[in-house]
Amino acid sequence: MLPTYSEYLRLPELLGQRHPRSTEHDELLFITVHQTCELWFRQMLTELTAARDDLLAGETYPPRSRLRRCHTIARMLATHFDVLDTMAPQDFLRFRDALGTASGLQSAQFRQIELLSARGGREPTLWDGFLTVLGKAGFSVATRAERSAAYGEIAMNRREHQALWELAEALVDHDQAWSMFRQRHVHTVERQIGSRPGTGGTAGAVSLTGRGHFYPELWELRASL
Ligand code: HEM
Repeated sequence: MLPTYSEYLRLPELLGQRHPRSTEHDELLFITVHQTCELWFRQMLTELTAARDDLLAGETYPPRSRLRRCHTIARMLATHFDVLDTMAPQDFLRFRDALGTASGLQSAQFRQIELLSARGGREPTLWDGFLTVLGKAGFSVATRAERSAAYGEIAMNRREHQALWELAEALVDHDQAWSMFRQRHVHTVERQIGSRPGTGGTAGAVSLTGRGHFYPELWELRASL
C-alpha cells in the first residue's frame, strides 16, 4: 500500500521528539532550532561523505555539485540564529538551568563534519580526496612547496584546468560557509549569555573564536597570485 504524506515522512515520530524540560514558552523554539540543525548536519554528512569518496575515486564533477549543496545548506543554517535571536536573553535564562551540562560541544555530527572536511581523524578527509585528484592530474603534492606550485599553475591556467580550479573554489566556498555558520553562532552566544561560561564547561563565547580554516593552503594561495 502506498504511504500517506504523514506515513512517508513519519510525522508522528518526528513531531513527537520535542520534550521540553521546563514550562517556559521559548524552550520549544530552542529545541526546534537545535533539532533542525542536527537534521541538516546529517544531510551535510551524507553529501560530504559522497563527495570525499568520489574525490578519492578521481572524480571532480559530482564532488563539486555536492559541495555546492553543502555550502548552500551551511548558509541557510546560519539564518537559524536569526530566529533564535527573537528570544530575549531573560527568557533564555528562565530555562537555561534545565539544560544542565548539555551543550552543542557534544554534537557528534558537528564534530564529524569538521573531521571529514579537513581536521583529520581516522578516516580520509575531503582534503585527502582533493590531493588524490591533483595527483591523478599529474601534479606532485607530497610537499607544501609542490602543492603551492600546483595551485599556482591551476589558478593561472584556469581554462586548461577548469575542473580543478572549480573544485578548489568549491572547497573554499565550503570552508567559508562553515566558518560563517560558526561565526554567526558566536554572535548569538554573545547576545544570549554575554561573557557567561557555557553549559558545556568552557569559558563561553571567547572559547569559540580563533578556529582556523579547513584549507589554509587554498587561502594562502590568494597572497601569491
Ligand atoms: C541560545 C543559543 C545558544 C547559546 C547561548 C549557545 C552557547 C554555546 C556555548 C557557550 C558553547 C561553548 C561550549 C560550552 O561551554 O557550552 C557552544 C558550543 C556549540 N554550540 Fe551553541 N549555543 C546556542 C545555540 C546553538 C545552536 C542553535 C546550535 C546548533 C546546532 C549550536 C551548536 C553548537 C555547537 C556545534 C557547539 C560546539 C562548537 C565548537 O566546538 O566549535 N548552538 N554553544
